[in-house]
Amino acid sequence: MSFSRIARSITPSATLALNARAARMRAAGEPVIHLGGGEPEGLAPPSAIEAGIAMLRTGQVRYTPATGTPAMKDAIIAYTERFYGRRPGRDNVMASAGAKQAIMVALLALVDPGDEVVFPVPYWVSYPDMTRLAGGVPVPVRPADGSFQPSLRDMEEALTLRTRAVLLNSPNNPSGAVYDEEFVRGMVRLCEERDIHLLMDDIYHRMVFDGNAAVNCYACTGRELDEARIVVLNGVSKQYAMTGFRIGWAVGPAALIRAMGNIQSHLSGNPSALSQHAAVAAVADERDSVRELCTHLERHRNVMMELLAGIPGLGVNVPGGTFYGLCDFSRFDADSHRLSEHLLEKVQVVTVPGVEFGMEGHLRLSFCGPLSEVREGVRRIAWLLDPHGPAELEAGGRVFRR
Ligand SMILES: Cc1ncc(COP(=O)(O)O)c(C=O)c1O
Repeated sequence: MSFSRIARSITPSATLALNARAARMRAAGEPVIHLGGGEPEGLAPPSAIEAGIAMLRTGQVRYTPATGTPAMKDAIIAYTERFYGRRPGRDNVMASAGAKQAIMVALLALVDPGDEVVFPVPYWVSYPDMTRLAGGVPVPVRPADGSFQPSLRDMEEALTLRTRAVLLNSPNNPSGAVYDEEFVRGMVRLCEERDIHLLMDDIYHRMVFDGNAAVNCYACTGRELDEARIVVLNGVSKQYAMTGFRIGWAVGPAALIRAMGNIQSHLSGNPSALSQHAAVAAVADERDSVRELCTHLERHRNVMMELLAGIPGLGVNVPGGTFYGLCDFSRFDADSHRLSEHLLEKVQVVTVPGVEFGMEGHLRLSFCGPLSEVREGVRRIAWLLDPHGPAELEAGGRVFRR
Protein backbone atom coordinates (compact mmCIF):
# COMPACT_ATOMS: atom_id res chain seq x y z
CA MET A 1 0.00 0.00 0.00
CA SER A 2 1.42 3.40 -0.83
CA PHE A 3 0.43 6.74 0.60
CA SER A 4 0.89 10.30 -0.56
CA ARG A 5 4.05 12.31 0.03
CA ILE A 6 2.14 14.47 2.50
CA ALA A 7 0.90 11.44 4.47
CA ARG A 8 4.45 10.14 4.65
CA SER A 9 5.88 13.48 5.77
CA ILE A 10 3.53 14.01 8.72
CA THR A 11 4.32 12.63 12.17
CA PRO A 12 1.63 11.85 14.76
CA SER A 13 1.10 14.56 17.40
CA ALA A 14 3.46 13.57 20.23
CA THR A 15 1.35 15.31 22.86
CA LEU A 16 -1.87 13.56 21.81
CA ALA A 17 -0.06 10.18 21.78
CA LEU A 18 1.25 10.82 25.31
CA ASN A 19 -2.21 11.77 26.56
CA ALA A 20 -3.63 8.55 25.14
CA ARG A 21 -0.89 6.48 26.77
CA ALA A 22 -1.35 8.18 30.16
CA ALA A 23 -5.12 7.58 29.95
CA ARG A 24 -4.54 3.87 29.24
CA MET A 25 -2.15 3.57 32.20
CA ARG A 26 -4.59 5.35 34.49
CA ALA A 27 -7.45 3.14 33.33
CA ALA A 28 -5.30 0.14 34.25
CA GLY A 29 -5.08 1.53 37.81
CA GLU A 30 -1.51 2.90 37.62
CA PRO A 31 -0.83 5.98 39.82
CA VAL A 32 0.15 8.16 36.87
CA ILE A 33 0.96 11.84 37.41
CA HIS A 34 0.22 13.84 34.30
CA LEU A 35 2.58 16.78 33.82
CA GLY A 36 2.11 16.57 30.06
CA GLY A 37 -1.39 18.03 29.82
CA GLY A 38 -2.46 20.88 27.60
CA GLU A 39 -5.79 21.89 29.08
CA PRO A 40 -6.96 23.65 32.25
CA GLU A 41 -8.53 21.36 34.85
CA GLY A 42 -11.61 23.57 35.44
CA LEU A 43 -15.07 23.15 33.98
CA ALA A 44 -16.56 24.99 31.02
CA PRO A 45 -18.56 28.08 32.09
CA PRO A 46 -22.14 27.20 33.21
CA SER A 47 -23.45 29.84 30.77
CA ALA A 48 -21.89 27.90 27.87
CA ILE A 49 -23.31 24.59 29.07
CA GLU A 50 -26.79 26.06 29.54
CA ALA A 51 -26.71 27.63 26.08
CA GLY A 52 -25.66 24.31 24.56
CA ILE A 53 -28.39 22.38 26.37
CA ALA A 54 -31.04 24.91 25.39
CA MET A 55 -30.05 24.64 21.75
CA LEU A 56 -30.00 20.84 21.83
CA ARG A 57 -33.53 20.83 23.27
CA THR A 58 -34.84 22.68 20.23
CA GLY A 59 -33.64 19.80 18.07
CA GLN A 60 -32.48 22.40 15.55
CA VAL A 61 -28.78 21.78 15.24
CA ARG A 62 -28.09 22.45 11.60
CA TYR A 63 -25.46 23.66 9.19
CA THR A 64 -24.40 27.25 9.73
CA PRO A 65 -22.47 29.51 7.34
CA ALA A 66 -19.04 27.88 6.85
CA THR A 67 -17.25 30.71 8.66
CA GLY A 68 -19.65 30.82 11.61
CA THR A 69 -23.04 32.16 12.64
CA PRO A 70 -23.66 35.92 12.75
CA ALA A 71 -23.84 35.63 16.56
CA MET A 72 -20.46 33.87 16.67
CA LYS A 73 -18.92 36.52 14.42
CA ASP A 74 -20.37 39.27 16.60
CA ALA A 75 -18.86 37.57 19.66
CA ILE A 76 -15.43 37.53 17.95
CA ILE A 77 -15.87 41.20 17.00
CA ALA A 78 -16.80 42.14 20.59
CA TYR A 79 -13.85 40.14 21.93
CA THR A 80 -11.44 41.85 19.55
CA GLU A 81 -12.78 45.27 20.48
CA ARG A 82 -12.49 44.49 24.19
CA PHE A 83 -8.99 43.05 24.19
CA TYR A 84 -7.33 44.68 21.16
CA GLY A 85 -9.11 48.01 20.88
CA ARG A 86 -10.03 47.40 17.21
CA ARG A 87 -13.49 46.76 15.85
CA PRO A 88 -13.34 44.37 12.88
CA GLY A 89 -16.24 43.96 10.45
CA ARG A 90 -18.02 40.64 10.01
CA ASP A 91 -15.96 40.03 6.88
CA ASN A 92 -12.76 40.31 8.95
CA VAL A 93 -13.58 37.37 11.22
CA MET A 94 -14.29 33.67 10.96
CA ALA A 95 -14.85 30.77 13.34
CA SER A 96 -13.12 27.41 12.94
CA ALA A 97 -12.97 24.01 14.58
CA GLY A 98 -10.39 25.23 17.12
CA ALA A 99 -7.52 27.66 16.68
CA LYS A 100 -5.74 24.69 15.15
CA GLN A 101 -8.03 24.69 12.12
CA ALA A 102 -7.90 28.48 11.89
CA ILE A 103 -4.07 28.33 11.67
CA MET A 104 -4.25 25.50 9.14
CA VAL A 105 -6.66 27.27 6.79
CA ALA A 106 -4.58 30.45 7.07
CA LEU A 107 -1.51 28.49 5.94
CA LEU A 108 -3.48 26.80 3.15
CA ALA A 109 -4.61 30.22 1.96
CA LEU A 110 -1.10 31.70 1.98
CA VAL A 111 1.43 28.99 1.17
CA ASP A 112 2.30 27.53 -2.22
CA PRO A 113 4.56 24.46 -2.57
CA GLY A 114 8.08 25.39 -1.51
CA ASP A 115 7.07 28.63 0.25
CA GLU A 116 8.57 29.20 3.67
CA VAL A 117 6.93 29.71 7.04
CA VAL A 118 9.20 31.18 9.72
CA PHE A 119 8.74 30.73 13.48
CA PRO A 120 10.97 30.97 16.55
CA VAL A 121 12.28 27.98 18.52
CA PRO A 122 10.82 26.66 20.76
CA TYR A 123 7.63 26.35 18.73
CA TRP A 124 4.26 24.71 19.19
CA VAL A 125 4.53 21.05 18.09
CA SER A 126 2.09 21.41 15.21
CA TYR A 127 3.71 24.33 13.34
CA PRO A 128 6.23 22.28 11.31
CA ASP A 129 3.71 19.63 10.29
CA MET A 130 0.98 22.17 9.56
CA THR A 131 3.44 23.99 7.29
CA ARG A 132 4.27 20.72 5.50
CA LEU A 133 0.56 19.90 5.18
CA ALA A 134 0.16 23.19 3.33
CA GLY A 135 3.05 22.18 1.03
CA GLY A 136 5.42 24.67 2.66
CA VAL A 137 8.86 24.51 4.20
CA PRO A 138 9.12 25.11 7.96
CA VAL A 139 11.92 27.51 8.94
CA PRO A 140 12.50 27.32 12.72
CA VAL A 141 14.68 30.13 14.06
CA ARG A 142 16.80 29.28 17.10
CA PRO A 143 17.69 32.25 19.33
CA ALA A 144 21.50 32.50 19.19
CA ASP A 145 21.74 33.24 22.92
CA GLY A 146 19.94 30.01 23.87
CA SER A 147 17.11 31.97 25.51
CA PHE A 148 13.40 31.66 24.78
CA GLN A 149 13.23 35.27 23.57
CA PRO A 150 13.68 35.39 19.80
CA SER A 151 15.71 38.31 18.45
CA LEU A 152 14.54 40.57 15.68
CA ARG A 153 17.85 40.21 13.90
CA ASP A 154 17.70 36.37 13.87
CA MET A 155 14.15 36.48 12.55
CA GLU A 156 14.99 39.08 9.91
CA GLU A 157 17.91 36.97 8.67
CA ALA A 158 15.55 34.01 8.22
CA LEU A 159 13.15 35.93 5.96
CA THR A 160 13.60 35.30 2.24
CA LEU A 161 11.68 36.06 -0.93
CA ARG A 162 9.89 32.74 -0.38
CA THR A 163 8.67 33.61 3.12
CA ARG A 164 4.90 33.83 3.05
CA ALA A 165 4.11 33.79 6.76
CA VAL A 166 5.66 34.25 10.19
CA LEU A 167 4.06 32.42 13.11
CA LEU A 168 4.40 33.89 16.60
CA ASN A 169 2.96 32.43 19.77
CA SER A 170 3.24 34.62 22.87
CA PRO A 171 2.94 33.65 25.63
CA ASN A 172 4.58 30.63 24.20
CA ASN A 173 3.79 26.95 24.32
CA PRO A 174 6.09 25.27 25.44
CA SER A 175 8.33 27.84 27.20
CA GLY A 176 5.78 30.21 28.74
CA ALA A 177 7.93 33.08 27.42
CA VAL A 178 6.13 36.37 26.77
CA TYR A 179 7.64 38.24 23.82
CA ASP A 180 8.46 41.87 24.52
CA GLU A 181 6.93 44.85 22.77
CA GLU A 182 10.06 45.84 20.89
CA PHE A 183 10.19 42.40 19.28
CA VAL A 184 6.50 42.22 18.34
CA ARG A 185 6.54 45.80 17.04
CA GLY A 186 9.64 45.01 15.00
CA MET A 187 8.06 41.88 13.53
CA VAL A 188 4.89 43.78 12.58
CA ARG A 189 7.05 46.38 10.80
CA LEU A 190 9.23 43.79 9.04
CA CYS A 191 6.19 41.84 7.83
CA GLU A 192 4.51 45.01 6.56
CA GLU A 193 7.66 46.10 4.71
CA ARG A 194 7.99 42.73 3.00
CA ASP A 195 4.32 41.94 2.51
CA ILE A 196 4.51 38.82 4.69
CA HIS A 197 1.56 37.76 6.81
CA LEU A 198 2.17 37.69 10.54
CA LEU A 199 0.09 34.96 12.16
CA MET A 200 -0.27 35.81 15.85
CA ASP A 201 -1.27 32.69 17.74
CA ASP A 202 -2.78 34.44 20.76
CA ILE A 203 -4.42 31.37 22.30
CA TYR A 204 -2.74 32.12 25.68
CA HIS A 205 -2.76 35.94 25.47
CA ARG A 206 -4.82 36.39 28.63
CA MET A 207 -2.77 33.92 30.65
CA VAL A 208 0.10 36.16 31.67
CA PHE A 209 1.48 36.40 35.22
CA ASP A 210 3.18 38.89 37.53
CA GLY A 211 0.85 41.72 36.56
CA ASN A 212 2.18 41.75 32.98
CA ALA A 213 0.21 41.57 29.73
CA ALA A 214 0.82 40.12 26.29
CA VAL A 215 1.63 42.68 23.60
CA ASN A 216 -1.36 43.73 21.51
CA CYS A 217 -0.14 43.35 17.92
CA TYR A 218 -2.75 45.80 16.62
CA ALA A 219 -1.26 48.51 18.82
CA CYS A 220 1.96 47.98 16.83
CA THR A 221 0.56 49.13 13.49
CA GLY A 222 -1.03 52.31 12.23
CA ARG A 223 -2.71 50.43 9.40
CA GLU A 224 -6.39 49.55 9.10
CA LEU A 225 -7.26 45.87 9.57
CA ASP A 226 -7.57 45.23 5.81
CA GLU A 227 -4.20 46.83 5.09
CA ALA A 228 -2.29 45.36 8.03
CA ARG A 229 -0.60 42.03 7.43
CA ILE A 230 -1.74 40.67 10.79
CA VAL A 231 -3.92 37.61 11.42
CA VAL A 232 -4.88 37.00 15.06
CA LEU A 233 -5.75 33.42 16.00
CA ASN A 234 -7.51 32.56 19.20
CA GLY A 235 -10.36 30.50 20.63
CA VAL A 236 -12.25 29.26 23.65
CA SER A 237 -10.17 26.14 24.35
CA LYS A 238 -7.70 27.35 26.94
CA GLN A 239 -9.22 30.49 28.42
CA TYR A 240 -12.68 29.01 29.04
CA ALA A 241 -11.62 25.37 29.60
CA MET A 242 -13.59 24.40 26.47
CA THR A 243 -11.00 22.33 24.61
CA GLY A 244 -13.51 19.67 23.54
CA PHE A 245 -15.94 22.18 22.04
CA ARG A 246 -13.48 22.89 19.22
CA ILE A 247 -14.12 26.55 18.62
CA GLY A 248 -11.37 28.89 17.51
CA TRP A 249 -11.26 31.93 15.28
CA ALA A 250 -9.23 34.17 13.03
CA VAL A 251 -9.31 37.96 12.65
CA GLY A 252 -7.59 39.46 9.61
CA PRO A 253 -7.82 41.29 6.28
CA ALA A 254 -11.18 40.62 4.61
CA ALA A 255 -9.63 39.26 1.39
CA LEU A 256 -7.61 36.66 3.30
CA ILE A 257 -10.53 35.72 5.56
CA ARG A 258 -12.65 35.18 2.44
CA ALA A 259 -10.01 32.84 0.96
CA MET A 260 -9.70 30.99 4.28
CA GLY A 261 -13.49 30.65 4.45
CA ASN A 262 -13.62 29.19 0.94
CA ILE A 263 -11.05 26.56 1.92
CA GLN A 264 -12.82 25.75 5.17
CA SER A 265 -16.15 25.39 3.36
CA HIS A 266 -14.73 22.42 1.45
CA LEU A 267 -12.59 21.07 4.26
CA SER A 268 -15.03 20.70 7.14
CA GLY A 269 -17.88 23.11 6.48
CA ASN A 270 -18.93 25.05 9.54
CA PRO A 271 -17.56 24.43 13.02
CA SER A 272 -20.18 22.65 15.17
CA ALA A 273 -23.37 24.72 15.43
CA LEU A 274 -23.85 23.55 19.01
CA SER A 275 -20.33 24.51 20.02
CA GLN A 276 -20.62 27.92 18.39
CA HIS A 277 -23.77 28.57 20.40
CA ALA A 278 -22.01 27.58 23.63
CA ALA A 279 -18.90 29.62 22.72
CA VAL A 280 -20.98 32.77 22.13
CA ALA A 281 -22.31 32.45 25.69
CA ALA A 282 -18.81 31.90 27.12
CA VAL A 283 -17.37 34.94 25.35
CA ALA A 284 -20.33 37.12 26.40
CA ASP A 285 -20.14 35.97 30.05
CA GLU A 286 -19.41 38.98 32.24
CA ARG A 287 -17.88 36.96 35.09
CA ASP A 288 -14.14 37.21 34.78
CA SER A 289 -13.41 33.51 34.96
CA VAL A 290 -10.20 34.01 32.94
CA ARG A 291 -8.74 36.29 35.61
CA GLU A 292 -9.52 33.65 38.24
CA LEU A 293 -7.93 30.98 36.08
CA CYS A 294 -4.85 33.11 35.68
CA THR A 295 -4.46 33.66 39.44
CA HIS A 296 -4.86 29.93 39.96
CA LEU A 297 -2.27 29.10 37.31
CA GLU A 298 0.17 31.64 38.69
CA ARG A 299 -0.03 29.94 42.08
CA HIS A 300 0.64 26.56 40.45
CA ARG A 301 3.54 28.03 38.50
CA ASN A 302 5.10 29.40 41.68
CA VAL A 303 4.84 26.06 43.47
CA MET A 304 6.25 24.08 40.55
CA MET A 305 9.14 26.44 39.86
CA GLU A 306 10.12 26.62 43.52
CA LEU A 307 10.21 22.82 43.76
CA LEU A 308 12.10 22.43 40.48
CA ALA A 309 14.66 25.02 41.58
CA GLY A 310 15.56 22.61 44.38
CA ILE A 311 16.78 19.94 41.93
CA PRO A 312 20.55 20.36 41.48
CA GLY A 313 21.65 20.44 37.85
CA LEU A 314 18.23 21.26 36.43
CA GLY A 315 17.97 24.39 34.27
CA VAL A 316 14.77 26.18 35.26
CA ASN A 317 13.28 29.04 33.23
CA VAL A 318 10.37 30.67 34.99
CA PRO A 319 7.45 30.97 32.55
CA GLY A 320 5.79 34.39 32.34
CA GLY A 321 2.50 32.95 31.10
CA THR A 322 0.60 29.84 29.82
CA PHE A 323 0.63 26.72 31.98
CA TYR A 324 3.88 25.19 30.81
CA GLY A 325 7.52 25.40 31.71
CA LEU A 326 10.40 24.13 29.59
CA CYS A 327 13.31 22.94 31.71
CA ASP A 328 16.81 21.97 30.70
CA PHE A 329 17.40 18.34 31.71
CA SER A 330 20.47 17.85 29.51
CA ARG A 331 22.74 17.32 32.54
CA PHE A 332 20.74 14.13 33.21
CA ASP A 333 20.09 12.97 29.66
CA ALA A 334 20.55 14.91 26.43
CA ASP A 335 17.96 12.69 24.71
CA SER A 336 14.58 14.10 25.75
CA HIS A 337 12.55 11.17 24.39
CA ARG A 338 14.65 8.69 26.33
CA LEU A 339 14.42 10.74 29.53
CA SER A 340 10.66 11.26 29.19
CA GLU A 341 10.22 7.52 28.64
CA HIS A 342 12.45 6.80 31.67
CA LEU A 343 10.32 9.08 33.90
CA LEU A 344 7.15 7.36 32.74
CA GLU A 345 8.55 3.87 33.20
CA LYS A 346 10.24 4.43 36.55
CA VAL A 347 7.98 6.88 38.42
CA GLN A 348 4.94 7.15 36.15
CA VAL A 349 5.24 10.86 35.52
CA VAL A 350 4.17 12.09 32.10
CA THR A 351 6.28 14.87 30.55
CA VAL A 352 6.66 16.00 26.93
CA PRO A 353 10.09 15.64 25.24
CA GLY A 354 11.52 19.05 24.34
CA VAL A 355 12.70 17.81 20.94
CA GLU A 356 9.05 17.95 19.83
CA PHE A 357 9.27 21.74 20.25
CA GLY A 358 12.74 22.02 18.73
CA MET A 359 14.50 21.98 22.14
CA GLU A 360 16.38 18.72 22.60
CA GLY A 361 17.63 18.13 26.15
CA HIS A 362 14.54 19.80 27.60
CA LEU A 363 11.22 18.55 28.93
CA ARG A 364 7.95 20.44 29.01
CA LEU A 365 6.18 20.27 32.35
CA SER A 366 2.56 21.43 32.70
CA PHE A 367 1.19 22.99 35.85
CA CYS A 368 -2.46 23.10 34.80
CA GLY A 369 -3.40 20.01 36.85
CA PRO A 370 -4.24 19.83 40.57
CA LEU A 371 -1.60 21.27 42.90
CA SER A 372 -1.27 17.89 44.63
CA GLU A 373 -0.22 16.37 41.28
CA VAL A 374 2.20 19.20 40.56
CA ARG A 375 3.91 18.59 43.92
CA GLU A 376 3.86 14.81 43.63
CA GLY A 377 5.15 14.85 40.06
CA VAL A 378 8.15 17.00 40.94
CA ARG A 379 8.80 14.93 44.09
CA ARG A 380 9.06 11.76 41.98
CA ILE A 381 11.26 13.43 39.35
CA ALA A 382 13.57 14.82 42.06
CA TRP A 383 13.91 11.37 43.63
CA LEU A 384 14.70 9.64 40.34
CA LEU A 385 17.29 12.22 39.30
CA ASP A 386 19.08 12.22 42.66
CA PRO A 387 21.91 9.66 42.49
CA HIS A 388 22.42 9.88 46.25
CA GLY A 389 18.75 9.48 47.22
CA PRO A 390 17.12 6.44 48.85
CA ALA A 391 16.79 3.29 46.73
CA GLU A 392 13.01 3.24 47.03
CA LEU A 393 10.19 5.76 46.88
CA GLU A 394 6.67 5.19 48.12
CA ALA A 395 4.13 6.93 45.95
CA GLY A 396 0.50 6.42 45.00
CA GLY A 397 0.29 3.20 47.02
CA ARG A 398 3.27 1.79 45.15
CA VAL A 399 6.94 1.37 45.87
CA PHE A 400 9.16 2.62 43.02
CA ARG A 401 12.68 1.25 42.74
CA ARG A 402 15.52 2.66 40.70
C1 LIG B 1 0.12 27.40 20.82
C2 LIG B 1 -1.15 26.73 20.50
N1 LIG B 1 -1.85 27.14 19.43
C3 LIG B 1 -3.01 26.57 19.08
C4 LIG B 1 -3.54 25.53 19.83
C5 LIG B 1 -4.83 24.92 19.36
O1 LIG B 1 -5.91 25.19 20.17
P1 LIG B 1 -7.37 24.73 19.80
O2 LIG B 1 -7.81 23.80 20.87
O3 LIG B 1 -8.18 26.00 19.79
O4 LIG B 1 -7.34 24.09 18.46
C6 LIG B 1 -2.85 25.06 20.95
C7 LIG B 1 -3.35 23.92 21.72
O5 LIG B 1 -2.64 23.26 22.44
C8 LIG B 1 -1.64 25.69 21.31
O6 LIG B 1 -0.94 25.32 22.38
